[in-house]
Amino acid sequence: MTLWGGRFSEPTDDDLRALNDSIGFDQRMYKEDIQGSIAWAKALGGAGVISGDDVEQIVDGLENVRAEFDAGTFEFKAGDEDIHTAVERRLTELIGAVGGRLHTGRSRNDQVATDLRLWTRAALNAAREAVAQLQAALVEQAEIHIETLMPGYTHVQTAQPVTAGHWLMSYFWMFQRDRGRLRHAADASLEWLPLGAGALAGTAFPIERNQLVSQLEFDAASPNSLDAVSDRDYVADSMYALSMLTIHLSRLSEDLIWFSNPAFGYVALNDRYSTGSSLMPQKRNPDPMELARGKAGRLIGNLTGFLTTLKGLPTGYNKDLQEDKEPLFDSFDTLMRILPVVTAVIKTLKLNPDKMRAALDPDMLATDLADYLVLKGMPFREAHHVSGRAVRLAAEQGIKLHELTVESLRGLSALFTDDVKEVFNFAASVARRSVIGGTAPASVRQQIAHAKRLL
Ligand code: ARG
Repeated sequence: MTLWGGRFSEPTDDDLRALNDSIGFDQRMYKEDIQGSIAWAKALGGAGVISGDDVEQIVDGLENVRAEFDAGTFEFKAGDEDIHTAVERRLTELIGAVGGRLHTGRSRNDQVATDLRLWTRAALNAAREAVAQLQAALVEQAEIHIETLMPGYTHVQTAQPVTAGHWLMSYFWMFQRDRGRLRHAADASLEWLPLGAGALAGTAFPIERNQLVSQLEFDAASPNSLDAVSDRDYVADSMYALSMLTIHLSRLSEDLIWFSNPAFGYVALNDRYSTGSSLMPQKRNPDPMELARGKAGRLIGNLTGFLTTLKGLPTGYNKDLQEDKEPLFDSFDTLMRILPVVTAVIKTLKLNPDKMRAALDPDMLATDLADYLVLKGMPFREAHHVSGRAVRLAAEQGIKLHELTVESLRGLSALFTDDVKEVFNFAASVARRSVIGGTAPASVRQQIAHAKRLL
């Protein structure tokens, strides 16, 4: 007893039904489906296609159906193929034959496209809010560690000293871009309203689409009905935005994983966010970070899988498009499970400034040594070479760079004088990098003020 059973002489095969049905996953769009249907009923009334009395009955009925869903009392029946058929079936049970007028001039093709756009906007806004909380946690930690020194890395090799606040804030900006991408994808979802596109050719009734646009808070009516029913660009945009976000989460996780390794000990995850080993009593594992890192692969898979579904689809609606929802829902759900945990990990993270400081090596000031010569007039290329020779000399003598005597340094360049000792100061090295965006505490303070304005 499907809604489209008229032209068939045999019922649908059970296996096909199981394959075809989307009710298992699209029922979570019930609110959006009912919202769209209420708007559509009113538009039909406005166009004089159904009577004002019909509109009232349909709207009341739909609100009752929504109340059943909200209360968890909605009963599904065999034949509820998807959320659209389930809502309409129940509506007709509640208000009788007049419920059958709702689908006039509409198709599930423009209906589902509308529902998913509405759902996506709400989901992405929720994700954005959750990202903002993580950003706030990063800012809070960064503020505590504006002056804390730690090794900065390139190629996972110690490079130059940085402040821990600067390191933490580097992630703030990644997430700031993610929030921008999420907003962009949410905006893309609401750019064009598909309702009124019908199955493919546009509805034959004189619907005021612009009124639907304002009622459902879209930007404009879709300008081409064929495109409207098959456009899922916003789904791909959303999954890309969500994937990029998890990629950033995976990078943050990776840092926390190796920084929490006892060989580094720069950070410690709170006990509530660490896990143990069933065999090795001493273990403290950063499972939440590993899960965040690992789940990035899942989101990337959802995105690439869906892009593959879209590739080469012929004109108009094709059932392949039903494959849009599961990966999008999964990406969103997965992310919303990761984010609060990562936020809590950051909030409760303990940095260990002593360990960070102990990992600073005077070799990391070799650039500063070259800069010292530059300030004395030597071209940088030459200064780089001289500083490199100093590093080698110290290594040959089995001492640290700052332990070289002024005499041995003078053997490399006559520009070295006693004041070279002042180069070997990590805090001074960091403080010199006070350009906009630099690691100096003064710059990080400005960076944090900027970040707070954005939050
Ligand atoms: N469940 C379908 C989907 O998610 C709704 C649209 C069905 N349209 C159709 N022509 N069979 O795409």
